[in-house]
Amino acid sequence: MSHQATALAHPNIALAKYWGKVPGSDNAPAVPSLSVTLAGMTTTTTVEFSADFPADHLELNGAEADATALRRASGLLDEVRAEAGLKVPARIRSRNDFPTAAGLASSASGFAALAVAARSAAGLPRDPARESNLARRASASSARSLFGGFVELAAGRENEHRFLPAQQVAPPDALPLRVLVAVTTERIKDTPSTGGMNHTAATSPYYQAWVAHAPRLFERVRAAVLAADLEALGVAAEESAFAMHASAIAAAPAVLYWLGPTVEVIAAVRGLRASGVGAWCTMDAGPHVKVLCAPPDAARVASTLAAIPGVLRVLTASPGEGARLLGAEAST
Ligand code: DP6
Repeated sequence: MSHQATALAHPNIALAKYWGKVPGSDNAPAVPSLSVTLAGMTTTTTVEFSADFPADHLELNGAEADATALRRASGLLDEVRAEAGLKVPARIRSRNDFPTAAGLASSASGFAALAVAARSAAGLPRDPARESNLARRASASSARSLFGGFVELAAGRENEHRFLPAQQVAPPDALPLRVLVAVTTERIKDTPSTGGMNHTAATSPYYQAWVAHAPRLFERVRAAVLAADLEALGVAAEESAFAMHASAIAAAPAVLYWLGPTVEVIAAVRGLRASGVGAWCTMDAGPHVKVLCAPPDAARVASTLAAIPGVLRVLTASPGEGARLLGAEAST
């Protein structure tokens, strides 16, 4: 007898960044964050529990995943098994319809889809808040991909293990927005976000300043989303990205994700603004630049970005829906 379920989820881009964890917590963020879930790019994940499997197994885009990825996924499965009173191994098959090197972290959509599929395959009812809390413990940014549109994740508290799911702030159509991704390299990043933020927290003299300032940036981003004020959103989102990267660059040794084309794109976006086009940058734990603009400006901004030497391609995304279940079944 086996039980399987399939779920899909989209990546998200933080407009107010999460960078740093609360010490002694179960992967709770040190700062509040707010993201937009992106339509168009999708991770689809199937989880099957069966006593016939020798151990948990994880397949990513058709290839067996490495031990680190399997350990992280098994940790999530262990929590589901404990809640459902299940003791059998699982097989996970996960596929992204966007390239891994596209500059959009597949971990956010991956753990969100895994949380939905695993709980459902274990016979637990759909519960986006529980799924979000489960995903958050595996990778905090993935907690936000459970919900559509504009989504917040609060900061945790020291030495506290508490129920901390993300929640929707506003639906996808609350603010007309395009997110253009200027892809600057095909290389996979060298410092994963977990290591980068832990090293920043341990060694950067600017980390405490970041933790103190981030909630104010978060409040400005949140207020701008609720007021549907794209300019205020863009300005605050750009400040959040630069403040996060400043704290990382001041670590010893520096956590520096930018390449030459990253800076070229930032300069071009400032040039667009100087010529009256509303466009703002945000960068995550990698060298790609995501540019926020209004839908009518997207074609002009995309062609400006595509013409920059070192920009390999430009992807366009819009606010999208949260993670959902595609199907669940039991078979003998
Ligand atoms: C720069 O969620 O990947 O994208 O919780 O350790 O898995 P872990 O980190 P992760 O960090 C994301 C950092 C970021 C900003 C953000 O998405 O808020």
